[in-house]
Amino acid sequence: MYKELLQELLKDKKIVAVVCNQWGDTGKGKLVDLLSDWADLIVRGTGGANAGHTISVGGQDFIFHLIPSGILHDQNGKINILGRGVAFDPRVVIEELEVLKIAGIEVKNLKISHQAPLILPYHLLIDRIADKNQKIGTTGRGIGPLYADFVSRHSLFVNDLFNPQVFKEKLTKFLNQKKSILDNLDREQAKEILLHPHLGAGKFFDPENIFDIDEIVKKYTTEYADQLRDFIINLEEYLNQAKKENKKILLEGAQGALLSIDYGTTKFQTSSDCTIAGLAKGCGLREREVDYIFGIAKAFYMTRVGNGPFPTELGAKESEEYCAAGHSKEEEKEKYASQVDDLLSKDELSQGIAFRLLGREYGATTGRPRRTGWLDLLALKYSMQFNGRHLTLTKVDVLTGIEKIKLCTGYKYTGPEIFYAGRKLKTGDEIDYFIPDSDILYHCQPLYQEFAAWSEDLTGIKSYPELPNAVKNLVEFIENYTQGIINVISVGPDREQTIIKI
Ligand code: IMP
Repeated sequence: MYKELLQELLKDKKIVAVVCNQWGDTGKGKLVDLLSDWADLIVRGTGGANAGHTISVGGQDFIFHLIPSGILHDQNGKINILGRGVAFDPRVVIEELEVLKIAGIEVKNLKISHQAPLILPYHLLIDRIADKNQKIGTTGRGIGPLYADFVSRHSLFVNDLFNPQVFKEKLTKFLNQKKSILDNLDREQAKEILLHPHLGAGKFFDPENIFDIDEIVKKYTTEYADQLRDFIINLEEYLNQAKKENKKILLEGAQGALLSIDYGTTKFQTSSDCTIAGLAKGCGLREREVDYIFGIAKAFYMTRVGNGPFPTELGAKESEEYCAAGHSKEEEKEKYASQVDDLLSKDELSQGIAFRLLGREYGATTGRPRRTGWLDLLALKYSMQFNGRHLTLTKVDVLTGIEKIKLCTGYKYTGPEIFYAGRKLKTGDEIDYFIPDSDILYHCQPLYQEFAAWSEDLTGIKSYPELPNAVKNLVEFIENYTQGIINVISVGPDREQTIIKI
């Protein structure tokens, strides 16, 4: 049923995009998979191996980080592209190709922009050491240090892999420029981190200079270059040709607007612009070329991984600390899986654990428990300023059977008097807009409206009119509040569990 309606929704569209309106992990992978039937090309343009999506291959689940979610459709001739904005880690791509090969899938149609900036072992080292102090809770994939190098014009690019002399000269120069940082690192700590397989399993460690330049050059310009050579393209040229041939292009976002370096909650951000503007640019296109944007939001709860403000978090600061403490998925399942109903009637921290178990909210990249809370409509409305009016709600089935649903429709400011955007905020003030300044947002308490819930199983429902009235009320309330249009409602992980509302 969803297929015909989706076709209608995408009638006359040539370029469509999937982006997240929250803090990531909203189910972009499912939507990209669904849209891969429609698309000829699937392009990623932001982030890197910090993203994570689970894909089923031959009944087996695989977690991929860098190659686009459309990779399984390679067999059907679909082209998957890593764009110029991607933080490109050759090791990760090669490992992911290897996993696919073992599963019997020989990838033929992957393309990589020659201009993507290159992740090097020192990006991962600096990221991992810095996060011990900054406590942002990064994924440790080198994303921040790489994009910082890019902006300060100190990065190597994919194209350099194929010019060993240039690669070595640039690497030597950039490592020299980092000498003061590297000299100040604790050698033992650096060595320990460099023993990790993500950073060469000790191969790149040099006791004197921390990095053995020759070993890095060898690995990158011979082994990695040889395995990637056939995939390299000039992205803009390639896309211009595809557009001339009327090919359909799908842009796959990573992370979410609230993590964007431009619009996200300050400091606790990733380092690329995860909104449609950043995505289009990273894919070698312009935002105005995109005909339709699927702006995803989890509903009627939301999640965040890593640290940073999250006003509607169940259990507030206690939950943030609990989730940062490294409790594993296995541990939580063993301890609590049989008591979800009990947890739901207890304190907020327990309710948050129940939401996590119900929604299987554990990070694909890090395995960390995701922080959980009610849907924040101020945050959603804020993100939609950047990602447009069209919404896709995912995980709508997760809270079936719960007593009531709460939606955040305001904040109460509880911090010290402060100026924000030309206004003075005082304790007790009620606010009806999102504040991306983390220091202030940490002092915003959620104000909720309560709604009736439902107990019917939603996972088999195929059309909008069949949904329980309680769900339709919530959908309509969200549309009215955000002035958005909800076109897609996901009620389960399978393709068929998708309701299109036009
Ligand atoms: P980084 O992108 O590894 O630098 O991490 C910066 C922040 O973004 C941390 O809070 C991460 O948890 C968060 N983050 C990065 N990638 C993802 C993602 O794919 N989903 C959710 N959060 C992410």
